[in-house]
Amino acid sequence: MAKYTASDADTYQDIDCETTDALLPESKIGDASVLAGNRPRAFRGNLTCFFVLQLFLISIYTTTFFTLRRGACEASLVYSPAASAVKLERVRFNATLVIESPYNGPPSKEVDAAWAAIIDNMNIAVPKSDLDRVGAASIRIPDTDNMYFAGLSVFHELHCLKRLRQYTWKEHYFPNMSANDERLNRLHTDHCLEILRQAAMCRADISLFTLQWSEDSLLPRADFSQEHECINFDAIYRWAGERRVDAGRPGILTHPLHASHITPNTGVAFPDGKGDKVGGSEDMSPVVVED
Ligand SMILES: *[C@@H]1O[C@H](CO)[C@@H](O)[C@H](O)[C@H]1NC(C)=O
Ligand SMILES: *[C@@H]1O[C@H](CO)[C@@H](O)[C@H](O)[C@H]1NC(C)=O
Repeated sequence: MAKYTASDADTYQDIDCETTDALLPESKIGDASVLAGNRPRAFRGNLTCFFVLQLFLISIYTTTFFTLRRGACEASLVYSPAASAVKLERVRFNATLVIESPYNGPPSKEVDAAWAAIIDNMNIAVPKSDLDRVGAASIRIPDTDNMYFAGLSVFHELHCLKRLRQYTWKEHYFPNMSANDERLNRLHTDHCLEILRQAAMCRADISLFTLQWSEDSLLPRADFSQEHECINFDAIYRWAGERRVDAGRPGILTHPLHASHITPNTGVAFPDGKGDKVGGSEDMSPVVVED
């Protein structure tokens, strides 16, 4: 292809205006010809140039608009009904070695309550149409107008973090376990590690961290307390809260086929309203209800 130069541009512009002018019969110019009247030909040439330029700009804007719009659509490859609740914000992480946080520290009622509070909108009700859009099936919620159990992944990830923390205080959270429960608990913990690895790589947070020298060490210190682009959690939490289902309510989850396999006679999945400590079965089916 010929290289584009300034002189080519000049030529191109000249030809374009001349040609357009020549192609348009006087009658087709309509009002412009009336306006132009007996004015010099140069003026009409400028007027035509003006319209051609406008057309050119409009086509650029149109192309840009549709390109950007396509980009915006491609930005969300996977449907979620919660997309409408996504609000981006800048958040500076707390990143000192010892971080004051309600989610940290040795076992206490307060720490447990803090974790329970951010996970409690885990189970939500969604219409069948949401499941259809992601090509998934789920369990129907009894006594509803065709609503199904679902959950937002962020809550499963938080559940996994909670489990990992509990595993670091194993004697407190999982006392006196049988060897088999120990084994299942380890599997559940490994499951959570893998979920969180995939989640971190999936989100691939590209905000920077930096290095600094400190006076009391030969080693450089990393500064992780930079700003991150975050989805406002409160908005997502509220969105889920408005659709929350108490999956632990005895009877809301009742196994239709293998009742006796889960709970003899009734098929009620959580007769006492909660899951077990280990939270894993032999087939490692996911946990629905928090302990
Ligand atoms: C950082 O800590 C402050 C004070 O405890 C807290 O208000 C803030 O929410 C924390 N930020 C993050 C991102 O956790
Ligand atoms: C664990 O077992 C020991 C002895 O079998 C018992 O004394 C202790 O109370 C148990 N701890 C818990 C938390 O159940």
